[in-house]
Amino acid sequence: MTLIKETDFGTPIRLSTKMVTLTIDGQEVTVPEGTSIMRAAAEMGTKVPKLCATDSVEAFGSCRLCAVEIEGRKGTPASCTTPAENGLKVWTQTGKLAKLRRNIMELYISDHPLDCLTCAANGDCELQDMAGVVGLRDVRYGFAGENHLGAKKDESNPYFTFDASKCIVCSRCVRACEEVQGTFALTIDGRGFASTVSAGQKEDFLGSECVSCGACVQACPTATLMEKTVIEAGQPEHSVVTTCAYCGVGCSFKAEMRGTEVVRMTPYKDGQANHGHSCVKGRFAWGYATHKDRITKPMIRAKITDPWREVSWEEAIGHAANEFKRIQAKYGKGAVGGITSSRCTNEETYLVQKLIRAGFGVNNVDTCARVCHSPTGYGLSQTFGTSAGTQNFDSVASADVIMVIGANPTDGHPVFASHMKRRLRQGAKLIVVDPRRIDLVKSAHIKADHHLPLKPGTNVAMINAFAHVIVTEGLVKEDYVRERCDMMEFDRWRAFVSEERNSPEAAEKYTGVPAAEVRAAARLYASVNNAAIYYGLGVTEHSQGSTMVMGMANIAMATGNVGHVGAGVNPLRGQNNVQGSCDMGSFPHELPGYRHISTDDVREQFNQAWGVTLDPEPGLRIPNMLDAAIDGTFKGIYVQGEDIAQSDPNTKHVTAGLEAMECVVVQDIFLNETANYAHVFLPGTTFLEKDGTFTNAERRINRVRQAVPPAPGYADWEVTIMLSNALGYPMSYSHPSEIMDEIARLTPTFKNVSYEKLEEMGSIQWPCNDAAPDGTPTMHIGKFVRGKGRFMITEFVATEERVGPRFPLLLTTGRILSQYNVGAQTRRTENVAWHPEDVLEIHAHDAEERGIRDGDNVSVMSRVGETTLKAVISERMQPGVVYTTFHHVGTGANVITTDFSDWATNCPEYKVTAVEVRLSNMQSEWQRDNALFRDATRRIAKAAE
Ligand code: SF4
Ligand code: SF4
Ligand code: SF4
Ligand code: FES
Repeated sequence: MTLIKETDFGTPIRLSTKMVTLTIDGQEVTVPEGTSIMRAAAEMGTKVPKLCATDSVEAFGSCRLCAVEIEGRKGTPASCTTPAENGLKVWTQTGKLAKLRRNIMELYISDHPLDCLTCAANGDCELQDMAGVVGLRDVRYGFAGENHLGAKKDESNPYFTFDASKCIVCSRCVRACEEVQGTFALTIDGRGFASTVSAGQKEDFLGSECVSCGACVQACPTATLMEKTVIEAGQPEHSVVTTCAYCGVGCSFKAEMRGTEVVRMTPYKDGQANHGHSCVKGRFAWGYATHKDRITKPMIRAKITDPWREVSWEEAIGHAANEFKRIQAKYGKGAVGGITSSRCTNEETYLVQKLIRAGFGVNNVDTCARVCHSPTGYGLSQTFGTSAGTQNFDSVASADVIMVIGANPTDGHPVFASHMKRRLRQGAKLIVVDPRRIDLVKSAHIKADHHLPLKPGTNVAMINAFAHVIVTEGLVKEDYVRERCDMMEFDRWRAFVSEERNSPEAAEKYTGVPAAEVRAAARLYASVNNAAIYYGLGVTEHSQGSTMVMGMANIAMATGNVGHVGAGVNPLRGQNNVQGSCDMGSFPHELPGYRHISTDDVREQFNQAWGVTLDPEPGLRIPNMLDAAIDGTFKGIYVQGEDIAQSDPNTKHVTAGLEAMECVVVQDIFLNETANYAHVFLPGTTFLEKDGTFTNAERRINRVRQAVPPAPGYADWEVTIMLSNALGYPMSYSHPSEIMDEIARLTPTFKNVSYEKLEEMGSIQWPCNDAAPDGTPTMHIGKFVRGKGRFMITEFVATEERVGPRFPLLLTTGRILSQYNVGAQTRRTENVAWHPEDVLEIHAHDAEERGIRDGDNVSVMSRVGETTLKAVISERMQPGVVYTTFHHVGTGANVITTDFSDWATNCPEYKVTAVEVRLSNMQSEWQRDNALFRDATRRIAKAAE
């Protein structure tokens, strides 16, 4: 393995279709108009010396090292800021240029520490490289004069240092923060010799606006901004390209290593989802992989009150298989089931659902997508015919109006948010539909044209109001609808949304948003050719989640905004492989590729391939499995990589279900909350130990490549095979690629997917089959997958979860940038510096009414539970609405959330819980009991016992 070094072309790519031809050092080169001379030279393999230019940011022209000579022009223009033109004759290496460059480098080096041999960047420093390239041998000026060598180091950021003594003030970091990340945290303070890079108002990095995305570190040509892991471990020696295991953006990274130790994760420029950008989680929060809490040995116990006992793999697998067989013999086949994970690879997920359907012989399989995006699958397949988003991420660069509904991309999907913000800075209009004033509503150089702060639970009233305006104000794209959609359904829908009860004026009493504002936003959405909807769990996690997804699809069809670049309806998927886990047949009613289990010919295909007779009836969903456990009819479960005891709603109900089972098998990297109720623990692997694929929110299948060996000795897919074999259903694969080959054979949308093709193309967006051999960046071009687009009636039905005198506030939940879901990984990294605990955000008015001051501990009570946490008075909240995250075990935010759920898919209504908030300095009863219970159920017996 070698260390992958991507080419730096010096300035960003230009996409003009008009080409220009010039001569550089006597060689002819043709490039798109607008390309710099520096980039044109780089494309033909000539590296012009440079310091202040890099191809992730626009050229600035400050260092002058890249000077060139152009025949017929005076002076020595900077090649990074001079565009290539037809007929130019450029010389990059002349005696005059060599002298000029040496003089420039001499000045830089005279104010730079000469500690190359002991510098952490030694071997990866552009200043060092350039000194060599220009042939600088000595510095005439000496080091006695005024210099920056004693400048203070800022080590406040947990992941990187800023050593001002090494800064050459090239401003690459400042431009990266502005152009790549869009945070504008850095400035150059002072002038001339006194110029320094500054984070915010002379704050340190940690105290500034910096979100620790790493773009500046990536751009810095010297050791000024440097990863602490590299300072500690030294420069990496080899690298492996893989995919981030946090969110559904699916960023590609180079895992840069020394031996089997990861030294840093660097975003990969050829990554087709992230184009070389990253966020704090993927870039820096990978230390959990070697955290001391990792469990790497299988364990079993008879009762959950017993201490765990480490055993061999054979014993653990044998015990689990025997238990499942015993339970099925005693209580019937349907008394067992399993849960697949959106954190695991497609191949691992496919095998788990296969084990449950073919090995257990039941369809009691479900996935964590049940609690996040199951309404997306249902809603988009009903209307368009495919359970997935319509676009690739790059499509946002062509959007003229961007509507963000119930999503907070700067926290949840940060790299995509940076992409989106770039488009917004170019002038695209923005509509935000969210109860909270999320960052996108107003942040550096971004201001939403409309923020519609609706009351939680009123999404459908809002989307119907949009539809009403579109229909009654003549904004329907009639030709598009006539050509592409089912007219009978459309006419029905048109009549429905035209009714006065669906007008913005009628909706106002539910949503609380002034009708005039809604009308203006709807007109804006319908006024352009490229209007794109991006949405998140603020849409799906409602009792009408599926209705809302269909409502968005309706207005997109009515305005002709499906089937071309820049438009579409796009779920921002939460977890890294939530799309993949759904694609792989993790829902009880669907086989891989979203084909219903009751469809005879589909089932027959699987019967043949798997050598079994599958049950034609859909099995139990997660909530049904838990209900059945409490009723005494469901007794055993295999949970791979999901922590339902923390992530699912109404914790007490979940844990009662788990406690009622006789065999709970948990496969995970840590003893999670669900494992408190487990009888068998099978150690799992982190993404760094995995080989396989993840599918991101844009249907992009990305390779996950093993960087380090699996800590437990076996990969997760191998463990599933062992369990299946022990159950008496033999499986045999020697590599995950063989599992993908089986998936491709059995799933029409994956027909042409293979590891060879993934190597060749980098990544593939499904459908990838004979009709679309290289995949499908934009869906529904020319025709909807289901044939005619189908408008659905979306009657607004208010949730049963209502505020009242006992519970007068609405709680809505979500996540923040630095933490991730149940926090199992991010809580075990330095990311806790930003979010050490869950807090309750509350509006000043609600706080004052209750005598609550910023930082007070408060108790939050719903009709199902109570927890205590710290209150933060926040301008982001509207009166009557409070907000918290669910990243910390001690808070147990889901103790409060109810088990109301989406009517079609059972996706829980996390976003609407009626609560009361009171000052309290005591933990809730649940918090106290749970802390004791956790301690009691996590004991591991010493080997000798
Ligand atoms: S880490 Fe990211 S946000 Fe922070 S200063 Fe650097 S570029 Fe800006
Ligand atoms: S910190 Fe690095 S990128 Fe920023 S100005 Fe200094 S040398 Fe350039
Ligand atoms: S945006 Fe998502 S996929 Fe990309 S680095 Fe961050 S967490 Fe990972
Ligand atoms: S690289 Fe062109 S001026 Fe610095």
